[in-house]
Amino acid sequence: MIPDEKKEEVRDAADIVDVVSDYVKLKRSGSGFVGLCPFHNEKTPSFHVTPRLGIYKCFGCGAGGDVFNFVMEMEGVGFTEAIRELASRFGVFVPEEEEEPEYDEQMHLKEGIYHALRFAGLFFYRSLIEKDEAENARAYLKKRGLNAQTIKKYGLGYAPDQWDGLLKAAESAGVKEQYLQEAGLIKYGRNGEKAYDTFRNRIMFPIFNPTGKVIAFGGRVIGQAKSAKYINSPQTLVYNKSEVLYGIQVAKNEIRKEKEAILVEGYTDVLSLHQAGIRNVISTSGTALTPQQMRSVHRYGDTLLMIYDSDSAGQNAMIRGLNIALREGLEVRLLQLPEGEDPDSFVRQFGNKSFLEYKKKDSKDFITFILNKAQQAHDWDDPAHKKRTISQLLYSIAHIPDAVTRETFVLHLNQKVKVGDRALFEELGKKIAELKRDEAKEKQRLSRFEKSQDHGGQPRSEANIEKQATHQVKRENTTSQNGRTKDSQVRMASYEKEVIRLMLEYGRKMVEYIGKLCNADHFESENLKMFFEDIIKRYQDEKDISIDVYMSYDPPWPEMVSEIVMDAYGVSEKGMERTGVQVIKDSNPYKTAKGALKALKLHYLNRLKKDFEKAYQSSSGDEKIEINRLLTEVSRERMRLEVITLDELFPDPPQEEETGDK
Ligand code: GTP
Ligand code: MN
Repeated sequence: MIPDEKKEEVRDAADIVDVVSDYVKLKRSGSGFVGLCPFHNEKTPSFHVTPRLGIYKCFGCGAGGDVFNFVMEMEGVGFTEAIRELASRFGVFVPEEEEEPEYDEQMHLKEGIYHALRFAGLFFYRSLIEKDEAENARAYLKKRGLNAQTIKKYGLGYAPDQWDGLLKAAESAGVKEQYLQEAGLIKYGRNGEKAYDTFRNRIMFPIFNPTGKVIAFGGRVIGQAKSAKYINSPQTLVYNKSEVLYGIQVAKNEIRKEKEAILVEGYTDVLSLHQAGIRNVISTSGTALTPQQMRSVHRYGDTLLMIYDSDSAGQNAMIRGLNIALREGLEVRLLQLPEGEDPDSFVRQFGNKSFLEYKKKDSKDFITFILNKAQQAHDWDDPAHKKRTISQLLYSIAHIPDAVTRETFVLHLNQKVKVGDRALFEELGKKIAELKRDEAKEKQRLSRFEKSQDHGGQPRSEANIEKQATHQVKRENTTSQNGRTKDSQVRMASYEKEVIRLMLEYGRKMVEYIGKLCNADHFESENLKMFFEDIIKRYQDEKDISIDVYMSYDPPWPEMVSEIVMDAYGVSEKGMERTGVQVIKDSNPYKTAKGALKALKLHYLNRLKKDFEKAYQSSSGDEKIEINRLLTEVSRERMRLEVITLDELFPDPPQEEETGDK
């Protein structure tokens, strides 16, 4: 809680005319100011600001309040956040809330990441504008028809064609390497030593959150793509792909005014439409639409117009996204552009007026849109085809949360397909049940992670992340019945086999060495996990461990042994390379072990990270904070593995006369 006197201090300091002027062009009028209301569309100003009272009021739509309300409305933030934002802008000190120390650390880390991202954004932008070497990039953007104003507004930039362009600039500006790494802006080389820039010789598209902070980047090759056309920042503590809408920081106020958001597929579609004066536009940046994105849109407007590329990939993605938007309660309209066009090419060729006309004439509600398509694609007299289409449409209608709207759409459908409304409503009932089942299944899948968080009470040891993760991973596995079925899908990874092979070939001393450095949970393959456990058991029971021993076991052990041993001299080396670990086969078995262990742990941490990220999505409150913390630990651990040399990570075993008693 922020103390009341602090609130008043902020209110006094925050000049409402200043704050409103960021969004509205104000003119003096009597003792106050007037302008065009940012909350609705109007031609003559009815939006009044009265500085003496510190309030605003629109006589057109009735919006009104104090400076806090204004920021809350415009930025879509809560009260506390609005106060904090104003406090920092007008230089009022507001103490941070008392939080758990770990959480503080988390915040600290996030701030560091934001700082690094902001620095990088400016660096790329300045590189684009100022540097000679950015000539190609500038020419390319010019060819694409993007002007200086658009480039500036969206903060486009250029990542120099160097391995350490950003890295060096950041270093001399005192931006910590750790934050660059956590922000996904740099990576570490194969042997974990040398850092280098993630983005090189690319046009940079910063991705902002709704309040205008840079949270990630997309980087496009200049001209025709030989490799990946775009590369994007990895998920980080401040960037969650599934929540992001490109362009939202610019579009949000426009969406509020138009009460409609236009959703397109690509960065360049957003930029071209914006430049053509169509400003309520955002994009998914090539990822599948998510409920979180739709919730974010709904904060600003009620209608979503989807305009995806006119090719079949685009159209299919649009239909898939439709249900997600409907579920969120948005009114959805769909528009297909003429063949071969995307919004960018269309608006550049035909201009703003044609675009708006086309949109008005050709955008359709989803029933009409899908029916039209189905009728074009197939013989509409084929009852089976007709039935499938109706069924698909009813499943979409089932997503609409509001009963009256659902009913309206069913009647609309009834008009169009000439199937009795009683039958349609009956079928809708079934579809609603089906959807409930589908959603319950999905929820169950996600909550499995939450439940596995409840194993509390364990001491926090350095192995704690692994412990907690183990529960989660185990539960995941049990969902696929048993280990065996899962294994048929998960190929036994070469580094996993390698660890087992070394133990079998080099016997007790090697088992002792490896046994101290990893555990069964590090294995993804259930079979190898079992193998590992058996070896450890034999070790503890002081029994022999060798290839021969296991060859005399019952099936399937001998088969496993031969697969493990033979593979070790075949493809496995390649697999090692992929994981960035190079091994000279067994000239020194401990060295081989170190390489395999590193790969084993890296892959394990990657799986862990994915699991936590999923759990993060479905959690809230303290749990979310806890998972967030775990995610940081995982990412630290990964970094440690990446940067520390193999010998430091896994010290040699104590020296004796004969190492590796074969
Ligand atoms: P231009 O080809 O320059 O017009 O870009 P575009 O934005 O129109 O790209 P396109 O329609 O091919 O793809 C739509 C969006 O998908 C892009 O804006 C990117 O966000 C994403 N995307 C496209 N290609 C790739 C890729 O190779 N890798 C990744 N990660 N994303 C991509
Ligand atoms: Mn394009």
